[in-house]
Amino acid sequence: MSFRINSFEEYQNEYTKSVENPEQFWADKAGHFQWRKKWDKVLEWNFEKPDVKWFIGGRLNITENCLDRHLAERGDQTAIIWEPNSPNEEVRKLTYKELHEEVCRFANVLKNNGAKKGDRICIYMPMVPELAIAVLACARIGAIHSVVFGGFSFSSLADRINDAECNLVVTADGGYRGAKDIPLKVIVDEALQICPSVKKVVTLKRTGIAVNMQSGRDVWWHDEVKKATTEFVAEEMDSEDKLFILYTSGSTGKPKGVVHTIGGYMVYTAYTFQNVFQYKEAEVFWCTADVGWVTGHSYLIYGPLLSGATTLMFEGIPTFPDAGRFWSVIDKHKVNIFYTAPTAIRSLEAMGLDFVKPYKLDSLRVLGSVGEPINEEAWHWYEENIGKKNCPIVDTWWQTETGGIMISPLAGITKTKPSFATLPLPGIQPVLLDEKGNVLEGNNVEGRLCMKFPWPSIIRTTYGNHERCHDAYFSQFKGYYFTGDGCKRDENGYYRITGRVDDVIKVSGHLLGTAEIENAINEHPDIVESAVVGFQHDIKGWGIYAFVIDEHGRTDTDELKKEIIATVNKFMGAIAKPDKIQVVKGLPKTRSGKIMRRILRKIAEGDVANLGDTSTLLDPAVVDEIKLGAI
Ligand code: PRX
Repeated sequence: MSFRINSFEEYQNEYTKSVENPEQFWADKAGHFQWRKKWDKVLEWNFEKPDVKWFIGGRLNITENCLDRHLAERGDQTAIIWEPNSPNEEVRKLTYKELHEEVCRFANVLKNNGAKKGDRICIYMPMVPELAIAVLACARIGAIHSVVFGGFSFSSLADRINDAECNLVVTADGGYRGAKDIPLKVIVDEALQICPSVKKVVTLKRTGIAVNMQSGRDVWWHDEVKKATTEFVAEEMDSEDKLFILYTSGSTGKPKGVVHTIGGYMVYTAYTFQNVFQYKEAEVFWCTADVGWVTGHSYLIYGPLLSGATTLMFEGIPTFPDAGRFWSVIDKHKVNIFYTAPTAIRSLEAMGLDFVKPYKLDSLRVLGSVGEPINEEAWHWYEENIGKKNCPIVDTWWQTETGGIMISPLAGITKTKPSFATLPLPGIQPVLLDEKGNVLEGNNVEGRLCMKFPWPSIIRTTYGNHERCHDAYFSQFKGYYFTGDGCKRDENGYYRITGRVDDVIKVSGHLLGTAEIENAINEHPDIVESAVVGFQHDIKGWGIYAFVIDEHGRTDTDELKKEIIATVNKFMGAIAKPDKIQVVKGLPKTRSGKIMRRILRKIAEGDVANLGDTSTLLDPAVVDEIKLGAI
């Protein structure tokens, strides 16, 4: 009944057990948590529908496992260390006891404002402890949280609120990110003009900017908590009740609301947190991801708190006030485990070692990477200059839909190989398929990465539209979960993710649908049509290249380009800002009207000599014109 893997031999044994008898394996792991009622059956699954249920009939509340369960043993231990945007502002620390009290208090606030079990609550906040408190308070009352990244525009926020029909929004007046102040409440107000389901908005005072408070709808966090007690008996939930919705981009249409349910997500995030990072009692764990992304959900909040760890939350950005900020925070809080994205590593590497040298970094024991492939150069820079060749790097591959880490080394246990996520964790059964869906057996193969067996935190549905979940993940290869990633398996059975094989791009670790960016660009009144593709970018991994057709055929296009960037900012957010915009007269289309993105990708990559077969093009002259104007 062990939860922790301590050696490679143990990993191999656990892996074998997890494949031979998955139900027994996961029942053992689930036994480490506090259930109000134990499950009747471990697993039911069908990948064709899809329909997956774990720990069926089990009753629990995840916050009792994150908080109450720890009070006797570690009530006075720090649960959250908060490092503010400005290094001059005071650090905040919340013990498990304090966090428990604040979560109970805010659970009462939510209830007092009409929220109840099953409601959807949108959280649009800066990276402050109240964000974690709001997330956990939702879970405590049995409401489903939908956290929206604070960098999204009013229009993206409104889409997400409407899709989930949220009735309450938790936000702040504003948020600090580096030298910028983000006027969050203003953005919420704008979104709510088109969100009829929202009845209440709770606003935290963070930056102190003036905001409009709509009477009857808007209340202040600080007023409400004064009226609330710190006692709240957690709502009893079913293992398969929804815990949260998190929106992610797809190759078509608007973002999908990925749904995770309580029991399986709890077991899997804690299991992977403890084993991948080999977390040791009293260590400080720092995941730099924003809670608006899945990494922040699983490894800033749930995984660490379920494990009784100390988790660090950072409000700011890696380059403020200078490019040494990450390293200074590591020294300041004696961080032991540091988990960040390759984009951040590459951009800090580009700033030069002078920003690293002043810091000792000797508290570090494990380094992690997530969100996109880490190139060998960045891997070595990270290992030499940050880890001082003393810290194993865990390159963790997973997705919003998988809920937790799937393929990764176990720190200090699995032999690492730069740019390889290495081996599947126990319970994970990857397969590589060729385009026709044939399983590629053996090693030294490359194909599409799929999973042939469910794990506890697999996506259950896409909110409000189960068909979409089926179509996006379970339809291409019958009987498998399809990740959308290409992957190699080397001679030792190690996995290396080669990147997306669909129309989504990873820009600075953010997953963006090209269709979604095109829709935002097309909001510009002069744009007739656009096509977006990715191109390799030294720092961001991938950059955004937009080909646009201007109705008026303007020749001086600088102004138009600025307007397009502003339009994307408004309708999606700054993360989707095109790096390159080329104004064209036409797009390469097949006779049936389909844009030939393959050609545009080649042009964006600067590989115009190898455009491949263009014989099916409706008008080949279009390509010549685009080639000439390529940036
Ligand atoms: O393409 C893979 C890439 O990120 C995608 C998932 O993105 P998202 O749902 O936003 O979740 C990111 C955080 C878990 C994957 O399909 N990806 C993620 N981690 C890695 C990766 N690619 C290569 N190596 C990784 N370690």
